[in-house]
Amino acid sequence: MLRPEDNERLVRVGPGSPAGELLRRYWMPAALSSELPEADGSPVRVRILCEDLIAFRDSTGAVGLVDANCPHRRAPMFFGRNEDCGLRCVYHGWKFNRAGDCTDMPSEPAGTPLQAKVKIKSYPVHEAGGIVWTYMGPKAHMPAPPDLEWMRAPATHRIVSKTFEHCNYLQGLEGGLDTAHSSFAHNNDIANKRNTRTLDTAPLLDVETTDYGYSYVSTRRIGPDSRYVRIYHYVMPVQQMRGAISALDGTLRDIPEIDGHIWVPVDDETTNVYNWAYSYDHTYPIDPHHAEMRESYAGRGKEHMIPGTFKLIANMSNDYFIDRHVQKTKTFTGVPGVNTQDFALQEGMGAIVDRSKEFLGTSDKAIVTMRRLMLEATRDVERGAPLRGLDPAAARDIRPYDNIVKGDVDWREVFAEELRAKF
Ligand code: FES
Ligand SMILES: [Fe+2]
Repeated sequence: MLRPEDNERLVRVGPGSPAGELLRRYWMPAALSSELPEADGSPVRVRILCEDLIAFRDSTGAVGLVDANCPHRRAPMFFGRNEDCGLRCVYHGWKFNRAGDCTDMPSEPAGTPLQAKVKIKSYPVHEAGGIVWTYMGPKAHMPAPPDLEWMRAPATHRIVSKTFEHCNYLQGLEGGLDTAHSSFAHNNDIANKRNTRTLDTAPLLDVETTDYGYSYVSTRRIGPDSRYVRIYHYVMPVQQMRGAISALDGTLRDIPEIDGHIWVPVDDETTNVYNWAYSYDHTYPIDPHHAEMRESYAGRGKEHMIPGTFKLIANMSNDYFIDRHVQKTKTFTGVPGVNTQDFALQEGMGAIVDRSKEFLGTSDKAIVTMRRLMLEATRDVERGAPLRGLDPAAARDIRPYDNIVKGDVDWREVFAEELRAKF
């Protein structure tokens, strides 16, 4: 459980709030690159950390991220004209470049000193890994952008997607860190007695704090002589990655795949979840058809979204299409799609769950550690102490992994090669 004041400290993300100030010290995903497919294309609405912004790809192909409202009389920049290296407000024609400078003020006399004075709020942008990242914190504290293996993998080896979730980011993040739930929430075939994830429903968890957050491993006994070992990383502040060789039905796939998520607060009560996956084998690109099937299986394919949005058609208003007969006979939840199963449980807690009412067990160790690190970090921001996970070098070479280990050997040794980034 968390004291109500600590819960508040972690869930509020607007400017000036403890977690809001903390999250602003890290580079955060603001949009998918694919949302801005062309230079001088349509501007895109971005809401992040309770701030309304507009992203636009300018004539040079670089992305700008500016205030959603024009500094003149607050007209919506979303309707702006993206032209010749700037976004022009269509109310009176003031034009702003990526840096936020006003480059044209045609409604005022030529040479007006006002033009040099007026700026639109803008944030730095870094594009990598199919994602447009931004840094919204104080300029003096801006760290180097993240540089993780999945971001360096060639586009042919990587997929990224985004899903809008109707709850606070911490609920999503905790759901990702929670390894035990996959034995239940994602058990899609109760009759399968060979599932590596359900043979032992009480995994042992081992958490090791690192410079980027922590690494943790869940171990499930699956036979007299074998264990299913799954290694995860939590990368401060809102990212998690895990080995994805084991399929949900418990079979080990012949796919060199790793996946992860980044839970980016839209505001206190909603979240954009960035989903990524990549093949870490140079010789094994991800087939686009497989990528589409993968997203569909997770319940977040194109056909699952309300058109023009990243919101799921299966949502709390229709009880995520729960099928009670399927729940009786085949799956634990009766809800189709892994992503939908997660959302049903995380959103169903309410927009902001009251953590003072929880009873945590040993399988919640990773969640407890994340909360501790995040709480500490909010205090570190306040007293000007260094923050964990800011130096990209700390996480540059990490990689998660999962597989079966036979006999009494140390997984660290057996997996040593697989646990080091190669891209
Ligand atoms: S409100 Fe934007 S130019 Fe006037
Ligand atoms: Fe899940």
